[in-house]
Amino acid sequence: MMELLIQNAREVVTVSSSGKQLKRGAEMRDLGVIERGSIFVKDGIIEWVGREADRAIDTSSETDILDASDMVVLPGFVDSHTHLVFAGSRENEFSLRAEGKTYQEIAEAGGGIWSTVKEVRVATKKELKRSAEKRLDEMMKHGTTTVEIKSGYGLDMDNEIKMLEVINDLEKEHYMTVVSTFLGAHAVPPEYGKNSGEYVRFLLDKLTPYVGKKQLARFSDVFCENGYFNALQGEHLLNEGKKYGMQPKVHADELGSSGGAELAAKVGAISADHLECVSEKGIDALREANVVATLLPGVSFFLGHGYAPARKLIDAGVPVALASDFNPGSCMSFSMPMMMTIACTQMRMTPEEAITACTLNGAAALGLSNRVGSIEAGKVADLAIFNVPNYRYVPYNFGTNLLSKVIKQGVILEF
Ligand code: NIG
Ligand code: FE
Repeated sequence: MMELLIQNAREVVTVSSSGKQLKRGAEMRDLGVIERGSIFVKDGIIEWVGREADRAIDTSSETDILDASDMVVLPGFVDSHTHLVFAGSRENEFSLRAEGKTYQEIAEAGGGIWSTVKEVRVATKKELKRSAEKRLDEMMKHGTTTVEIKSGYGLDMDNEIKMLEVINDLEKEHYMTVVSTFLGAHAVPPEYGKNSGEYVRFLLDKLTPYVGKKQLARFSDVFCENGYFNALQGEHLLNEGKKYGMQPKVHADELGSSGGAELAAKVGAISADHLECVSEKGIDALREANVVATLLPGVSFFLGHGYAPARKLIDAGVPVALASDFNPGSCMSFSMPMMMTIACTQMRMTPEEAITACTLNGAAALGLSNRVGSIEAGKVADLAIFNVPNYRYVPYNFGTNLLSKVIKQGVILEF
């Protein structure tokens, strides 16, 4: 039996949902902050949380005690959209954009997703795994305790499977909670020329059934965008995935309004991600179908394009999550505090909304908000502890890592 008491924190930011699995509208601003708060953890599960003055649970000689009197405790961050398994890097594209080229121009000239696919195809599983493990370690040092990782840099039978096997190995072997998403429809590989139809057939007939039967992924995803996959192709692919229990996600309306949000609503996706160019109709569809809108402010920041209409979405009652989209092309950062800063300064989200979006609503975007995403009795003790005067300080003081400790399933991780 393992017991841990985190005692007398300046603030315990519970993001308490009182049984709700996600927050929308004004609920997103209610963080349930407990001043001078304590958390009692037993065998990795939160048993009690409240004011230290009200604590009735006694400690024994077996209980580890963490004095948090200078600290603010948040739920560990849930980064619900990443492409963390990759090889190589793309700082050449970063330079080209500084000279005025756009993401699309670079992709059309043979860069973009395809340049990472070439590197991944020649990398061994061991190499992919080792580099991913290092990134996961770093992410934990920034307070992330749950992460979704997509395939999509293999784009053929062997290499998509290789990526998914690496992601599944990470799930088993790393401290991080890892959730796997199949993104065979990330781009059409050049061996198919311009024939996206033939590649979609291969995904429908061969790759999706294989991934589904082997249960290599929890979700399936499609890059629904002009020049990649259209909404009808997306619908077929996501419905095929559903046959094997893979719940849909959609890369929606990033570079243009291409019906991605409407597609997400139609197929019953758990989330629609990006949404920089979402239409009014798309916003209505998301609300009605109860789809989480996962916004990725790091991408707009890094590529220098417009931001998703966070205010409109929140005010319309769509539940909003924030994620990093960490990948070598469009967002080379996995810092969730950094994503919060950008969301607050560029998208006019409040710090409270940003924290809810990085915790409970991120967990909801992965179907995990019954287990993680808030600090409540019965939930897993995944916690990010910051050495700051109050929770607003986390997005306020940007570009530096203010994390003091991360607790994963009740264990204080040492780095
Ligand atoms: O989410 N939009 C598609 N995929 C990634 C970019 C991947 C890449 O450029 O390598 C994204 O932004
Ligand atoms: Fe992405």
